[in-house]
Amino acid sequence: MKKVYIETYGCQMNVYDTEIIKTILVKEGYEFTDVPEKADALFLNTCSVRENAHQKVRQRINVLKQLKRNNKKLIMGVVGCMAQNLRNELLDDKVGVDIVAGPDSYRKLPDMIRHVEKTGEKDFALTLSEYETYSDIFPTHEKGINAWVAVMRGCDNFCTFCVVPYTRGRERSRDPQNVRGEVEKLALQGFKQVTLLGQNVNSYKYESYDFAALMELVSKIQGIERIRFTSPHPKDFPDRLLSAIAENPKICKHIHLPLQAGNNRILDLMNRTYTKEEFLSLVNKIRRKIPDIVLTTDIIVGFPGETEEEFQDTLDLIQKVEFDSAFMFKYSERKNTIASKKFPDDVSDEYKTSRITRLVDLQRSISNKKNNAHIGQVFDVLIEGPAKKRNQLSGRNDGNKIVVFNNSGNFKTGDMVKVKIEEASTNTLIGTIVGY
Ligand code: 5AD
Ligand code: SF4
Repeated sequence: MKKVYIETYGCQMNVYDTEIIKTILVKEGYEFTDVPEKADALFLNTCSVRENAHQKVRQRINVLKQLKRNNKKLIMGVVGCMAQNLRNELLDDKVGVDIVAGPDSYRKLPDMIRHVEKTGEKDFALTLSEYETYSDIFPTHEKGINAWVAVMRGCDNFCTFCVVPYTRGRERSRDPQNVRGEVEKLALQGFKQVTLLGQNVNSYKYESYDFAALMELVSKIQGIERIRFTSPHPKDFPDRLLSAIAENPKICKHIHLPLQAGNNRILDLMNRTYTKEEFLSLVNKIRRKIPDIVLTTDIIVGFPGETEEEFQDTLDLIQKVEFDSAFMFKYSERKNTIASKKFPDDVSDEYKTSRITRLVDLQRSISNKKNNAHIGQVFDVLIEGPAKKRNQLSGRNDGNKIVVFNNSGNFKTGDMVKVKIEEASTNTLIGTIVGY
């Protein structure tokens, strides 16, 4: 049996896609190995969102291609977003890559491997599809309490900094009955939680089903106790969706709401389609409807032309909204994006670093304050596994916050317990079990 080795970089969609690739290749008789030296084919499933993702993969290609010295027939493939975005660079003879396949071409991989084996020539497949959702393929999932389930792919928003519309193509949604089929299978396998996944998950639309209807459908599946979703865009939060989150006890009270910047000129240059004021009024509306909602966000500092005053607007909005936590990034110019063609990357790394440091400090103090406010509260915590310290367990509350506590019973992964919070830090709540 031919053996395949695969490494995954980047987002959860890539982790999901790796499982799709495995399912496709296993059906064709391949076996997977964790040891690159034992493989007949090596694949890297790659990310393009920031430059450091590219650097990591380039380094890895250089290390792994050394294995070709001992195994002349070894096939090396690069798949995913970087494959789609940097086809020419990767197909250069010097690089040593045999197969380059974009995110919509995974069904072709078995044929591509056979082609390279037979001819010794390189092969590539990079056509983006308006339809491919791999909907009929139910990938295997890593064991645990949570399973990620892709419900839509691609993005039509064209935020000017973002490479995703070019690497993953147009938005398309998966048949809700196939989503249901996959989640029913997961429930039977013992998964308690699903996270619905998409580059723009809340623009899900399939015939009469919108995203709220899809979540309602999934929430009816027996055995699934919690439903999460990521990543949404602030433009797609109709009242219907907020009501579903507010009223359906299985849908978790956590919304990741990417802000990106807090200045209106920068938001406009980013093509985010909302102003600072509109974002703030959405936050207020969400909090009115769902008072205990946990809000998290993504921020980019140092977008082309961002001045110190404009960055201050981001700090100001962060202070006003008080997100529970945030992912913060320095702007990184991506090939093919609108920003790379129209706006020079002119904020120096020194300024980017100074801005991100100040932002991280501010967010840390807010996260601390927010977490400290939970002291004394009791949360339902779904146990994910052992914590670092002996006899301690770790899980998450409904709002997706990590909760650590002593295992003062015989509790195990997958159990739901009530934990009273006694201590808090920036990233963790610490408490005691008070019931189950
Ligand atoms: N530079 C820096 N950060 C980026 N992101 C996306 N593209 C870029 C870029 N070119 C960030 C955004 C997005 C998150 C997934 O990655 O904040 O929400
Ligand atoms: Fe990129 Fe914007 Fe689409 Fe998110 S919504 S994937 S940031 S283009």
